[in-house]
Amino acid sequence: MKDLKKHIETNEDRLLDELFEFIRIPSVSSKEAHKADMYKATEWVKENLLKKGADKAEVCETQGHPVVYGEKIIDPGLPTVLIYGHYDVQPPEPLELWKSPPFEPEIRDGRIYARGADDDKGQMFMHFAAFEYLVETGQLPCNVKFMIEGEEEIGSPSLGQFLKDNREKLAADVILVSDTSMLGAETPSITTGLRGLSFCEVHVTGPNRDLHSGLFGGAVANPVNVLCEMIGSLIDENGRIAVKGFYDDVEELSPEEREEMGRAPFDDEKYKEALGVEELAGEKGYTTLERTGIRPTLDVNGIWGGYTGEGAKTVLPSEAHAKISMRLVPHQKSEKITQLFKDHFLSIAPKTVKVTVDFLHGGEGYVSPTDTPAYQAASKAYEKTYGIKPIPYRSGGSIPIISLFEHTLGIKTILMGFGLESDAIHSPNENYPLSQFFRGIETIPYFYRHFVELHRK
Ligand code: BES
Ligand code: MN
Ligand code: MN
Repeated sequence: MKDLKKHIETNEDRLLDELFEFIRIPSVSSKEAHKADMYKATEWVKENLLKKGADKAEVCETQGHPVVYGEKIIDPGLPTVLIYGHYDVQPPEPLELWKSPPFEPEIRDGRIYARGADDDKGQMFMHFAAFEYLVETGQLPCNVKFMIEGEEEIGSPSLGQFLKDNREKLAADVILVSDTSMLGAETPSITTGLRGLSFCEVHVTGPNRDLHSGLFGGAVANPVNVLCEMIGSLIDENGRIAVKGFYDDVEELSPEEREEMGRAPFDDEKYKEALGVEELAGEKGYTTLERTGIRPTLDVNGIWGGYTGEGAKTVLPSEAHAKISMRLVPHQKSEKITQLFKDHFLSIAPKTVKVTVDFLHGGEGYVSPTDTPAYQAASKAYEKTYGIKPIPYRSGGSIPIISLFEHTLGIKTILMGFGLESDAIHSPNENYPLSQFFRGIETIPYFYRHFVELHRK
């Protein structure tokens, strides 16, 4: 690729200025108060795509936050790459834990600190920058389409319909996504698996009002106590989930496949140190990468009830609530697992309380094959930039819409992520190393070139 590195170097400051402008729009999809920011973000994405050389870019209304679609079709006879990304971000709270404000990007120690710096504004913008380079230098080897959504962080509730309504428009040979991570800054890897998800909220109701915990405590069931006991029974002493039927469809990997996975360099000691924990936890008999990559899990994401304000208040709460997510592996179906969880959770409820379970969102996992032109192209691209052949590995995260890309559009996705575990996505002080940002921009054009070459064969 002619002058690729030079092009990136020359444009470093401007590219960062543009990304920072984008990051400054607080496009938090989960909050009604940010509705106007979602529109601002779509306008920004549209304008930026046009500026970077797209023939066409439009903001498409949906039931929820709009999708931005853009394209540059140079020759209908050539392959088409569809770039997917998301302009929405997670809420920044708790604000007091940020060293610099979440929507005022700041560079410290070679990293961009801000909400969305990695997930997914920083990673998505690498594609815009790579596209600009290819267009400007006349080296774009294929057609490119962009589909940038604003509801990924809330489970993409409107994108499924958008896919159904726009099959023709979205036709492509491969979908390229940078919204995952690599095993380490010097350990390039390609995400070959994402977990599915079933996300529920449970409610436990006891007495018809908050009670004095002295006058009534011991005589009336405490919903918070009950909820904790119920949750405590969901995972057994071996780290296995006690929901009946939960493991029925779980894909069991062969010893050979597990051995292959085990070759990925991973250091439990460093992992513990980075997270500040003495010991790791999880299902017995599996390594850390297996526990996140190929095994399903159940986690409480939030729990509340009773008095949580300053100081003490002696109260026996009338209600308790929790948000519970289950990460699923290939062959487990989100809908079925949600039903199994509901049935199980209701079946263990004592008569002393009322229990209800609501479904929040869910979706299927994804496994990406490694014997395709797209995987080979991605592999060659990373190798060119990082000097080492990337390792395939299954991530613990979820991007449920990826399985719908396959089912609704019939297109496979390649996950070329450049995030690092230390990027603190969804956490305070989210950050993205400049080196990953620029190496990502460098890697993407190689993908295009190799993909077009291999596709022709
Ligand atoms: N980009 C992440 C997913 C991710 C990150 C996958 C790193 C692999 C490695 C995405 O934005 C995300 O946060 N997804 C949600 C699911 C969604 C339905 C809320 C998740 O995994 O919790
Ligand atoms: Mn993301
Ligand atoms: Mn995310």
